[in-house]
Amino acid sequence: MTTQNFLGKENYNISSETVSESCPSNIALIKYWGKYKDQIPANPSISYTLNHCKTNTKVEFFANESFSVQTFLAGNEEDKFAEKIEKYFRSIEQYLPWILKGKYIIKTENTFPHSSGIASSASGFGAIAKCLMSLDETFSGKKSEEESLKKASFLARLGSGSACRSLYNGLVVWGESDEIEGSSDLFAVKYSDEEIHSVFKDFNDWVLLIHEGVKSVSSTVGHGLMNTNPYAERRFQEARENFVPMKEILKSGDMNSFIKLVEHEALTLHAMMMMSDPAFILMKTGTLEVINKIWDFRRETSLPLFFTLDAGANVHLLFPNDGSEDKIKTFIESELLQHTQKNGVVKDVMKF
Ligand code: PMV
Repeated sequence: MTTQNFLGKENYNISSETVSESCPSNIALIKYWGKYKDQIPANPSISYTLNHCKTNTKVEFFANESFSVQTFLAGNEEDKFAEKIEKYFRSIEQYLPWILKGKYIIKTENTFPHSSGIASSASGFGAIAKCLMSLDETFSGKKSEEESLKKASFLARLGSGSACRSLYNGLVVWGESDEIEGSSDLFAVKYSDEEIHSVFKDFNDWVLLIHEGVKSVSSTVGHGLMNTNPYAERRFQEARENFVPMKEILKSGDMNSFIKLVEHEALTLHAMMMMSDPAFILMKTGTLEVINKIWDFRRETSLPLFFTLDAGANVHLLFPNDGSEDKIKTFIESELLQHTQKNGVVKDVMKF
């Protein structure tokens, strides 16, 4: 599949239209950090799609008016976001030839707390890409669900790389990997449910809100700093190699190896940040306190509570519903919540 396949058809017939779509967020297990031109990832990544953390988006399109974008986030007009979307729409015109031929009013809201530090770009661009594909169906005819999702994933990637993984439930791979048939740098593919042990299909992700608010360094800047990071090539290679054990682990249900690999990926992501020039650290004191407490808890109880991190201070607490979850939840409430800013935790589960 090449970029060529996503070029739009000429025979569209435009009218005004309103569409609404919803898209969940996702959390990576093997991380994407570093990219080339046109949002081509430097290495493949795999993520879990979440269930409750979502963006709901309504797009009103008024055909034959001059191109403009007005956006509302949770009811408040946001000019900065409108500028970003306008730029994005201009950048994808070659794939949706009708896109600049009208006026847009976009209303969007997240189901997770605003300014929680939870990345809304994945669910946000996922939802917008789905809306665009709904509009595209009205103008250029019905597509198969498979085709529509693939193009939505392709378009979401051009907005925010990790967003392309949010179009599918379960485990999702983005980036070409010899280990994953059909994988591509251009769009995400669903990891086969049949290749996943049942223990990994009933999983929790509780996000501890260690630091609410804007990050000191954006993902865009962070990705860019991988261009000059002396460890970058080794890191990209390692991420590629990590797909070999990941596949075996997912099949066999080997929880201890899963924990080791997922935590290693999270710490490697942050190690890369610390080894960038200029260096930056997104973890806070609370992040480290929580990590150490998780390790102590595992040493003492052998229960499968572990963590991953995205590009921020918040800690994603991962644990299966395997009978041990009540003890783990009690520990989180009594020992870990105190390290958040306002007793903030978003309790989510993986969506299969
Ligand atoms: O999609 P972006 O550009 O916001 O990058 C996201 C990068 C990480 O969340 C840190 C890792 C990942 O694979 O999602």
